[in-house]
Amino acid sequence: MARLLLGVSGGIAAYKSLELARAATLAGHGVRVLMTPNALRFVGAASFEGVVGAPVLTSEFERDPMRGAFPGEPGEAGHDPIGHLELAANCDAFLVAPASANTVAKLAGGFADSMLTTSFLACTAPRLVAPAMNDRMYADAATQANLAALRERGVEVIEPDEGLLASRGERGRGRLPDPERLLAAVEAAASWEGARPWDGLSVLVTAGGTREPIDPVRFIGNRSSGRMGIAIAAAAAKRGASVTLIAANVALPAPAGVRRIDVETTADLERVAREEFPASQILLMAAAPADFRPEAAAESKLSRDASLDLSLKPTEDILAGLVANRAPGQTIVGFAAEHGGDAVERARAKLARKGADLIVLNDVSDPTIGFESTENAVTLVAATDEVEIPKAAKDTVAEAILDRVEQLRAGAQAAS
Ligand code: CTP
Repeated sequence: MARLLLGVSGGIAAYKSLELARAATLAGHGVRVLMTPNALRFVGAASFEGVVGAPVLTSEFERDPMRGAFPGEPGEAGHDPIGHLELAANCDAFLVAPASANTVAKLAGGFADSMLTTSFLACTAPRLVAPAMNDRMYADAATQANLAALRERGVEVIEPDEGLLASRGERGRGRLPDPERLLAAVEAAASWEGARPWDGLSVLVTAGGTREPIDPVRFIGNRSSGRMGIAIAAAAAKRGASVTLIAANVALPAPAGVRRIDVETTADLERVAREEFPASQILLMAAAPADFRPEAAAESKLSRDASLDLSLKPTEDILAGLVANRAPGQTIVGFAAEHGGDAVERARAKLARKGADLIVLNDVSDPTIGFESTENAVTLVAATDEVEIPKAAKDTVAEAILDRVEQLRAGAQAAS
């Protein structure tokens, strides 16, 4: 359980922070909320108080009835300070979400004119801000300079999403990310007691589908969205690992705290994976590299006047190349998309052929799972057994995959 301090400033997205406070509380964290006076115009303090079970503070001059404690903790007996620095000192991470343009400016300028800004200035725990505002306000040089200043001082800035904005149905960059993404970011950043199971581990995850150019505008590709790989990267970061995500044509944002390297072709993916693999203890090869590439990509756009014969040659098998160069203690997980029938047998043959420790088998004959879907059902095929993971959200499936990896690594360690 982490002690999370949530700062809410004045913006329409403040209602989304309620969801975040609820998700964090349900995840077992102790949450205290600081609201700016303007935030109270959007959401009432009583809503947050109901969700987190603790009073909301707004002014640096009011007393904290809980004396700087988080839900579930005893307050400091016999001591009744004006608690303006207590929460900042006691928290494991401080996230400001939404951070309005005005609050971002105040934080960048070091202002201390409310409980939120004062606490932010005094806080030495990891600090995160999630700006959310109109896209023109976000893009303005002043806001960007303020965010750059915060980043320079070690504050993690969680980029807003692009999409429908609150005002008059406008679209643009400025949306507060989903509560799950914010929670994952603050959990990854929080420095709370009790080591996480993957602290100190480096994890390499590949995601998405590669594209092999036919000419400057066309390519051979596949339908992999990268969702499964992203869910795995997020789950590994949550366990404390330092995670590198090699993303092949992934349109989705990377989980916060995850290092992302974008690639396009199988050859790019192979080169980056080869560079990154030696420093990793665990590789999860969730990407779908194209198996074939045109023998030679045309230099200019092909005309439709002529008929087209494409000559394809196989791409390099990245996984096999990495397995061949593995060091002791490295765990390698491959993925297999099979179409019905004796899929488990074929996955087990693939496990042996590729020399991986685990194959995550997807039955692609079921259209409700895999590819662009947010759900998946897999079978985890290891040398000695297979475990079926029933259909669930990709986040849940990711946790199950990592649980199995953890077991395999514990078994390998015990045997060595
Ligand atoms: N893979 C890879 N390099 C490729 C193609 C696939 O490393 N060029 C990886 C995938 O990321 C996945 C695993 O290999 O983790 C299985 O991919 P798949 O295409 O199903 O396996 P193939 O070796 O192509 O086997 P087959 O075509 O016989 O099914």
